[in-house]
Amino acid sequence: MTALATTSLPCKDFLSLDEFEAEHLELIFDVAAKLKAGRDEYTDLLRGKRLAMIFEKDSLRTRFTFDIGMTDMGGTAVFLDHRDARLGSRESVKDMARNLERWVDVIVARTYKQRAIEELAANCEIPVINGLSDHSHPCQALTDYFTLTEKFGDLKGKTLCYVGDGNNTCHSLMVAGTKLGVNVVVCTPEGYEPDPEVTAQCATWARQSGGSITVTPSVDEAVKGAHVIYTDVWASMGQEDEIEERAAIFNDYQVDEEMMELADPGAYFLHCLPAHRGAEVSAGVMDGPQSIVYDNAENRLHVQKAIMALLLGAWN
Ligand code: CP
Ligand code: NVA
Repeated sequence: MTALATTSLPCKDFLSLDEFEAEHLELIFDVAAKLKAGRDEYTDLLRGKRLAMIFEKDSLRTRFTFDIGMTDMGGTAVFLDHRDARLGSRESVKDMARNLERWVDVIVARTYKQRAIEELAANCEIPVINGLSDHSHPCQALTDYFTLTEKFGDLKGKTLCYVGDGNNTCHSLMVAGTKLGVNVVVCTPEGYEPDPEVTAQCATWARQSGGSITVTPSVDEAVKGAHVIYTDVWASMGQEDEIEERAAIFNDYQVDEEMMELADPGAYFLHCLPAHRGAEVSAGVMDGPQSIVYDNAENRLHVQKAIMALLLGAWN
């Protein structure tokens, strides 16, 4: 087994993957694998710790896995549902942060604006974790690559093709992938590309890691020979009034059996979920033998436990 290059994370918070080097991502994978293998060994790891969960949007996976993950390690989680009132509407984000840090040890927040999570983090001493924002979904992407390391071992030289909207999930997949030496191909209709600033940063990281980043509207070009085909919803939370318009624009971008045929014969299918069968993915692919979506959903638990344990300095 190769020795790890680091034993700690580089910053107080887990807001985006930009600040993390490949060695930090590998550390999280290593801890997640140990937590996964030995659930009963780590029941006291976060004994007495408290997690605040602030959600402005719906969630199944993120909410359950953070709550259960904290409970598994001996701590407590308290859920604050902000769907009807955005962060900062009743009192300032700064005051909220200053209150919460007196009661809890760590916060996970799912917000509309990335800026709101950053403001929360800037105003408290305790770690803040991004549970999805309009810009990124780092816990998701990290889990995706953890699952892929379980399937492939080394990810260097593997090609992950993301087909669909250049959204939050896509951004985080691009960032983590290019840091890990993956060839990341993003295939979107014109006008729905990822943020060009993210693409430019990823090009730099890819040069350093030996990976690559490609953005193209051509499905045939993108999918050919890929080892992973990934998709996400065409309209993210907050874009509900665009569902019909987007369905027409994204029609040729459905991941179906024909598209999977173009990929590597051993290719896997991934989706962050929730999925819409018959829209971004066909039922045949979603429920077919190449789909590893539920293995991945399980791994949200293990990876987020690792993130919390490392941020709270509980892992030696
Ligand atoms: N993939 C994901 O984050 O799922 P939830 O929206 O259910 O948390
Ligand atoms: N892009 C999706 C991800 C859901 C987990 C959204 O933001 O709604």
